[in-house]
Amino acid sequence: MIQSELVRFIELPKKQDKRGFLVFAEAERQIPFPIKRVFYIGGVPEGDDRGFHAHKRNQIVLFCISGTIIIKLDNGQEKAKVILDQPDKGLFIDHHIWHSMENFQKDTILLVFASIYYDENDYIRDYGQFKQS
Ligand code: TYD
Repeated sequence: MIQSELVRFIELPKKQDKRGFLVFAEAERQIPFPIKRVFYIGGVPEGDDRGFHAHKRNQIVLFCISGTIIIKLDNGQEKAKVILDQPDKGLFIDHHIWHSMENFQKDTILLVFASIYYDENDYIRDYGQFKQS
């Protein structure tokens, strides 16, 4: 598993038995911040992409709990492409990282933990502005 300044995987405990699996995450333990918000994304048309923004303050940890997703990361200097396809393997995305979620599949569901309440002013949605920030 390749880790770098930019690509920071988070592994959650997974309890597997004949009844299925159970994965859990705790704030300030596996998730490296006090969680303020949880959201999830699904029902995206197959092959579509979302995201294409960076945050000023918000940090997120993202899990693909069903299906697969490609995450592209860019810190202004370095770019990385990661595939998430396991419910217990997530990605920490710091603030000031331009990111997109690409090639959604029909069954893809993304679960996201965020460090701040929703604030549209926290978003940098223009790539040129991101490069200058
Ligand atoms: P948007 O930022 O466009 O999603 P994506 O990052 O996948 O491109 O968010 C979609 C809509 O949901 C937009 O109207 C803002 C709203 N929203 C909230 O109200 N609260 C939230 O926590 C999030 C993440 C989005």
